[in-house]
Amino acid sequence: MPLSAPMSEVPVPLRVFVAGATGVVGRALLPRLRERGHHVTALVRQAGRLEGGDLVDAVAVADVMDPRRLRRVVQESAPDVVVCQVTAFRHPDFDVALHRTSRLRDAGTRNLVSAAVSAGARRIIIQSMAAAYCPHGHDVLDEEAPLWTEAPGRWGEAVRAVAAMEDAVLTCPNIEGIALRYGALYGPRTWYAPGGTIHEKVRGSALPLVDDGVGLTSFTHTEDAAGVVLEMLTGGDPGAYNVVDNEPAESMEWLPAYARIVGGPAPVSLTLDQARTQLDWLTVHQLTEQRGATNFRLRETLGWRPAWPSWREGFASLCGLWPG
Ligand SMILES: NC(=O)c1ccc[n+]([C@@H]2O[C@H](COP(=O)([O-])OP(=O)(O)OC[C@H]3O[C@@H](n4cnc5c(N)ncnc54)[C@H](OP(=O)(O)O)[C@@H]3O)[C@@H](O)[C@H]2O)c1
Repeated sequence: MPLSAPMSEVPVPLRVFVAGATGVVGRALLPRLRERGHHVTALVRQAGRLEGGDLVDAVAVADVMDPRRLRRVVQESAPDVVVCQVTAFRHPDFDVALHRTSRLRDAGTRNLVSAAVSAGARRIIIQSMAAAYCPHGHDVLDEEAPLWTEAPGRWGEAVRAVAAMEDAVLTCPNIEGIALRYGALYGPRTWYAPGGTIHEKVRGSALPLVDDGVGLTSFTHTEDAAGVVLEMLTGGDPGAYNVVDNEPAESMEWLPAYARIVGGPAPVSLTLDQARTQLDWLTVHQLTEQRGATNFRLRETLGWRPAWPSWREGFASLCGLWPG
């Protein structure tokens, strides 16, 4: 069934189905959808899991890995737009988290696309990641750069799942697909917030600088991650977009700055050889060779500007040192 009208012509308020409503981006998104008067259905795996139930019009209970039940609840909600912010990164073992997230991104996204199409949704907006680019060429990469599907180990599996997820969404002829490639997510309840995984590692001097620390990270505040979803409900052409701040930063820059903000010790320095024996492969990759991402496409096509243009103020605000 071809699309009858582009999203830009669909009248608002819209009916929006949010998978991942209880997560760090979902929590930032729900109040803003409510402010704009959209009709919102939140997907949860367990009834009663959603705090702030007054922010939504309906709650649907299903697991994205259960295609039949998922299809039924999506059809019942009859959405114009389906939003997916589903991952398994809350799992305490990162290897397990990455593996489960890969399954969710691959099979779970295909289930959601199929459910969305069967329900007559016009658009699907999914969470993808800007860290998946092949670390070759320029320091800061745009959306045309290839994904690193040949990366080793679990990371290769994760990037292939990202590629499969984006393919399922962007090549489906019956729905407009948008893949939002977030940078490292920070904001309330994330790994960078007080008590979060990275926060505690840096306070405990467990995240060192490696070699000359030239690996780049592009960051995304959860408010910006949610803000772009809001803009993309009707704006922008289908496709992939980097959703990152304006300041990709080398680890030798952001890590000592973040350590000062969280009141931790200055990061220790390791040689590459030392790091390879003491740290996991992915951490060494991120700290030494990962590339940054540019938000140029989003700025040009939507006129988007991040509310948090630099991680410097974003981290300081998160840790109570900046008025925000
Ligand atoms: N997103 C990334 O690329 C990434 C990468 C590295 C680190 N992190 C860190 O990970 C933390 C979590 O952020 P996040 O946004 O990735 O995850 P999150 O805040 O935990 O959100 C994930 C959402 O997915 C839902 N979900 C999980 N499995 C599901 C399933 N089978 N069916 C339906 N819904 C399901 C969860 O619902 P339930 O309430 O049912 O669990 C939750 O709403 C942050 O601190 C971030 O810093 C994120």
